[in-house]
Amino acid sequence: MNKIQIEDREFEILIENDNICKRTRLIGIQINLDYENRCPVFIGVLNGSFIFMGDLLKEITISCEVAFIKVASYSGTESNGIVKEIFGLPEDLHNRDIIIVEDIVDTGLTLRHILKQINKQKPASVKVCSLLLKPAALKEPMEELEYIGFELANDFVVGYGLDYNGLGRNLNDIYRNKTVVAAAR
Ligand code: IMP
Repeated sequence: MNKIQIEDREFEILIENDNICKRTRLIGIQINLDYENRCPVFIGVLNGSFIFMGDLLKEITISCEVAFIKVASYSGTESNGIVKEIFGLPEDLHNRDIIIVEDIVDTGLTLRHILKQINKQKPASVKVCSLLLKPAALKEPMEELEYIGFELANDFVVGYGLDYNGLGRNLNDIYRNKTVVAAAR
């Protein structure tokens, strides 16, 4: 399928599942090397990261722990910049090596908020692994951004965990909508 329709928007294919899997495998290999003998805690950011987190963790062969958090901060096709509460953050991160797993980093505001909360517990280290990054949208550089799958232009994307108004998360591939429009709901 090269083109799909979700509600009022048309999307075209951008990254095929095969390429996502290949890239994820490489990131997994890198993390296995970087964290050998360290038992990191992977923290997936719901909802968007659920597929990437699953596929990434299948490539991780070192000892590790897994947790998920939820941050409600987004509606429609543009980040509104309002970051709400974080749910489910583990309380025993002191001296641990943390890897935050994101679907996409857009303005970086969500991530900044998560990092602030996690750093309060004084972990040993914090790195971010994001499948997608929109460098031009990033408000300020972030040294924690260590593992990036693909860099994108400022297009709105769906699929492989990412949604448009709650739809499209189940798509295998990633699709883009070139016309970025303000929140549709
Ligand atoms: P940020 O705070 O602007 O970096 O936005 C991060 C969150 O916004 C992501 O975790 C996604 O949930 C959502 N988001 C940003 N860009 C897109 C997109 O292109 N498609 C779907 N969701 C997006």
